Amino acid sequence: MSNILLIGAYGQVGYELRSTLAGLGKVIACTRKELDLGDPDQISSQVRRHKPSIIVNAAAYTAVDRAESESEMAMKINGIAPGVLAEEAKRLNALLVHYSTDYVFDGLSKVPYTEEDAPNPINVYGQSKLTGEKNIQAVEGRHLILRTSWVYSPLGHNFLKTMLKLADSGKEISVVTDQVGAPTWSRFLAEYTAKLLLVLENNKDSACLCGLYHLTPSGSTSWFNFAKAIFAHQGKKPILNAITTDQYVSAAKRPLNSVLSSNKLINTFGMQLPSWEQGLEHCLKELNQRQ
Ligand SMILES: NC(=O)c1ccc[n+]([C@@H]2O[C@H](COP(=O)([O-])OP(=O)(O)OC[C@H]3O[C@@H](n4cnc5c(N)ncnc54)[C@H](OP(=O)(O)O)[C@@H]3O)[C@@H](O)[C@H]2O)c1
Repeated sequence: MSNILLIGAYGQVGYELRSTLAGLGKVIACTRKELDLGDPDQISSQVRRHKPSIIVNAAAYTAVDRAESESEMAMKINGIAPGVLAEEAKRLNALLVHYSTDYVFDGLSKVPYTEEDAPNPINVYGQSKLTGEKNIQAVEGRHLILRTSWVYSPLGHNFLKTMLKLADSGKEISVVTDQVGAPTWSRFLAEYTAKLLLVLENNKDSACLCGLYHLTPSGSTSWFNFAKAIFAHQGKKPILNAITTDQYVSAAKRPLNSVLSSNKLINTFGMQLPSWEQGLEHCLKELNQRQ
């Protein structure tokens, strides 16, 4: 039975991983208090203490706008810490699973980004996440880096929750139409992470399956149409205005095209991915059942 060290166990993705990973081994779920990624010594001592065969890092500095004024902190957690985790994983011959982001790209491409495309982040968060990827790769240990996009969940802070709150407040809502991506339910990521781990566990040549993959549901949409889909499903009819990125003031720039091609993962692992609409429907059904 594997010991799986799960870091960031109470974030959107981490929360879901706690149950999806449970079928694969003993999950040691860490909060920030138990393992602070800002403290390299604590990373080393906790990994050495638990001796996991799999480390899943679902923790990150995810405040995209705040990162513009806290670049040192963002770099420490998203850039430096993944490298330390990779070193520790290599010492134990453990597999490191790490999440990265569409924000490593500048968004200027007219087609979905592949793993072969050159990253060119346009904000501090994206730069810090790219540094994390590079630091993991430089260690040359067993790793899976899964780049994803537009994560939402019934828990935590995310676009879906913000839209529902705004609709309930009766306020007019303005949402950008010219940024496109694939909305990704955190449960989808957790379930596919477990599926990938199962394939690796059962494959003698698992080392050659390691590496960098894009992992999002199929299809894409704009933030505006994502908001429309949320409201349609929930039977809400707020006043919804379409605006462009230029009209939306924020500290960090966002890529216009965030669409990631997951073809490498589909072809390598022979997996089919559901559409983003299916994920949204399931997530909202679950949210409605909870209320
Ligand atoms: N959210 C998105 O739209 C999105 C898009 C693309 C990729 N991703 C990537 O997907 C992964 C999961 O994101 P998410 O949306 O689940 O994030 P999230 O909900 O913001 O959760 C992040 C988790 O990281 C923890 N954390 C923050 N700083 C930490 C530190 N110094 N030490 C230990 N834990 C720390 C947080 O703990 P506290 O609760 O104590 O703060 C929280 O549990 C991340 O790698 C993220 O970069 C996210």
